[in-house]
Amino acid sequence: MTTRPPADIGMPAAEIDTPALVVDLDAYERNLDRMAASLAGTRLRLRPHAKTHKSPVVGLQQVARGAVGVCCQKVSEAEAMVNGGVRNVLVTNEIVGPRKLARLASLARQAEVGVCVDDPQNVRDLDAAARAFGVRLPVLVEVNVGANRCGVEPGEPAATLARQVAAQPGLRFAGLQAYQGRAQHIQDVEKRREAIDLAIAKVRESVDALSRAGLPCEAVTGAGTGSYRFEAASGVYTEIQAGSYIFMDADYKKVEGFPSEFENALFVLATVMSRATRDRAVVDAGLKAFSVDSGMPVVQGRPDLEVQRASDEHGVLLLRDPAAPVRVGDRLFLIPGHCDPTINLHDWYVGIRGGRVEALWPIAARGAVV
Ligand SMILES: Cc1ncc(COP(=O)(O)O)c(C=O)c1O
Repeated sequence: MTTRPPADIGMPAAEIDTPALVVDLDAYERNLDRMAASLAGTRLRLRPHAKTHKSPVVGLQQVARGAVGVCCQKVSEAEAMVNGGVRNVLVTNEIVGPRKLARLASLARQAEVGVCVDDPQNVRDLDAAARAFGVRLPVLVEVNVGANRCGVEPGEPAATLARQVAAQPGLRFAGLQAYQGRAQHIQDVEKRREAIDLAIAKVRESVDALSRAGLPCEAVTGAGTGSYRFEAASGVYTEIQAGSYIFMDADYKKVEGFPSEFENALFVLATVMSRATRDRAVVDAGLKAFSVDSGMPVVQGRPDLEVQRASDEHGVLLLRDPAAPVRVGDRLFLIPGHCDPTINLHDWYVGIRGGRVEALWPIAARGAVV
């Protein structure tokens, strides 16, 4: 179920109804090309994270530029990708519960679908589900490389679980999942490098333990927009999972170093609906149009305006200069603080180029949290 799009193909961008999630197609395509170019000529595979965009249309554009497939975080997200034509999906997460495992195993009959584990009982349950559906699931052991989220500890614990995976008839041990999520937004580039160096050392320790156990490690996958160059240069990672690079957001723009080569390509277009006082204006986009977990949106090209707070349907702007030209009816492009949860609030991407609406893409996995 989706709502009607807030625009029509071909209409001037000035007529898009608001609030709307707008993609600057030129900037977005440059971001896709930059990532593809930065990995070209290496043996690294790009498997971008679809938790960012939640759209098989975007996933297929990434595949067209050389990505091997996409990552997902949820079974329902993976279903949306496969149903939309993406042929290779890695669920970079632990999937628990009989209903979800059945959906995952059934999906693996239609496409290459891998999954991660960090628990022996979960390995047995996955094996049973895979055999019930007559598939052999690729399974990666998730290693805790410093994020302290999911994942077994590096070294022997990783090898022990990998041995168990390799012994199940319905499963195939397919490598290590090693994502250091807490390093991605460390602003200082050297501090970020230090955090990823520690992660790389934990991966090496795990690959060595696997090798002692006689288990070849065909893939080490991880990395995000903030750190991917470090993992790419490590010699141990084989696959890059960056997601946000396609759109960027206000928070990622504060991260120093190489992520800054990517451009802000995603905006919440909003209309000023009130200018009742000298120093305040209000737009028609609030908490239901953008997330605030990583801070308020930034108004594109308007340093004289600050989004001060948001309620459900209102965004309150402080005029840093009371003489700032802001009138009721003005349209503002807000750069969201955090792209992923903002996208999950919308049903449609409105793609614009040269001042016109060129594309309307449904956000097929919007709300796919199961
Ligand atoms: C497992 C995993 N891989 C990759 C990413 C992509 O990170 P980013 O959007 O920072 O590029 C994420 C994001 O949270 C993630 O959870």
